[in-house]
Amino acid sequence: MNRTLIKDTINKTEQEVLIKGWVNIRRDHGKLIFLDIRDRSGLIQAVINPKVSAEAHAVASEIRNEYVVELIGKINPRGEKQINLDLETGKIEIEVTGLKIINGAKPLPFDITSDTRTVSEEIRLKYRYLDLRNERMKKNLKLRHNVIQFIRNYLMGLDFTEIQTPILTKSTPEGARDYLVPSRIYPGNFFALPQSPQQYKQLLMVGGIERYFQIAPCFRDEDARADRSPGEFYQLDLEMSFVEQEDILELTEKLFTDLVKTLTPEKHITFSPWPRITHKEAKAKFGNDKPDMRKDKNDPNELAFCWVLDFPLFTEQTEEDFFHGAGDKWGPSHHMFTAPKSEDIPLLDTDPGKARGLQHDLALNGVEIGGGSIRIHDPKIQEKIFDLIGFTKKQKQRFNHMLEAFEYGVPPHGGIAPGIDRLVRILAGEEKISEVIAFPLSGSVRDPMMGSPSDVSDKQLKELHIKVDLPKEKKIDI
Ligand code: AMO
Repeated sequence: MNRTLIKDTINKTEQEVLIKGWVNIRRDHGKLIFLDIRDRSGLIQAVINPKVSAEAHAVASEIRNEYVVELIGKINPRGEKQINLDLETGKIEIEVTGLKIINGAKPLPFDITSDTRTVSEEIRLKYRYLDLRNERMKKNLKLRHNVIQFIRNYLMGLDFTEIQTPILTKSTPEGARDYLVPSRIYPGNFFALPQSPQQYKQLLMVGGIERYFQIAPCFRDEDARADRSPGEFYQLDLEMSFVEQEDILELTEKLFTDLVKTLTPEKHITFSPWPRITHKEAKAKFGNDKPDMRKDKNDPNELAFCWVLDFPLFTEQTEEDFFHGAGDKWGPSHHMFTAPKSEDIPLLDTDPGKARGLQHDLALNGVEIGGGSIRIHDPKIQEKIFDLIGFTKKQKQRFNHMLEAFEYGVPPHGGIAPGIDRLVRILAGEEKISEVIAFPLSGSVRDPMMGSPSDVSDKQLKELHIKVDLPKEKKIDI
């Protein structure tokens, strides 16, 4: 007999079915034992009556919550009074004729059938595989999946190519701290995990790809903050050649408008077209560069997208700014590949602080959910930017591959990278970004389930010629 998914049992009244899944809740009413059985598709009530099967009843007496079981039984309509309209299968139940325990389960460290957001982060993440059994978590992951598939199909329809770029790459000063990976073959040298595929996507444009996208993992060694996934997060990274800023804004606006209509029709987009506000106006009116334009902040279904444009190309660096490598007054406001507005190019020589960039940030309900720009495609201007941010000759050399590539016929290009985690969090109506990530790092940037980060064997360190120079009292065992 083939397995029937629980959601399909509603069409099988009076038929015999084989169900496999977890025991959501077991209720013992003396003679009758009720088991709510859960699989990936839903929940159904099973009734074990000793008069129907004494054997099944004996097995059911041993069963506890979260046991994995398989059962055979007949789908019966429920009596009028037993109908449960909260449940998709609430008009039927299974009368069990055969019951088998596939695997037992210890009592769970927390209740997965209610809201697990009240459980401590440490416990939830240590037992994340149990937390994922919770219906809300499953729904969030499904939504994330649907968002990614929608984006893929949409962009494929517009002739974009999805391309994977390297994870082991080169440390380049892009804004945050890098995660480093030591090279065994070249001792003393390190790969860095990409903070974003920024340089690769520009090199793909030099490669003539013209329309690229990727659901790209990005790695940044930063402390956790609201709406920041510590360690790693995902971007919809995209880049196009022969486009102007307007083309990027239009594509993004259409993509997300269609996505919201299709996947979360209960949400309504406040403005269409999305408002555009300059950086200066945003600062003056909202006091920040990611304005919350919702009309009613109590409405969980309102989505107020807006564009922020005309960012200054540079920001003044303070001592604390972590823009490693650069030593001068100016740091790039977005990143160092953003093109200045053409009318502001002369300002690079006279008053760089006043030059505006072709940067576009996308804000949604007061959260920055995307950023991008038209890029510099003139090697001379690129070098000038490097000079202005105070790169030494050696630091510039780290970008030689870019400057060199740009000498072989580079098309005008630009793109954007909306954050997948932030977008899905808002669509799911969650407060925390970790609610839409299967295995997030904790607020203290570690994984209580895997026990990472962890120490490694002396042999591994020796192979890499690495000595850990850390006084014992400083070592944190986690
Ligand atoms: P930027 O650094 O602005 O741009 O990042 C783009 C978007 O990525 C998301 N994001 C994050 N999401 C979760 N956790 C984080 N720690 C985190 N950091 C960033 C945000 C943000 O708007 N290469 C450029 C893009 C480009 O120019 O095309 C870049 O990475 O939603």
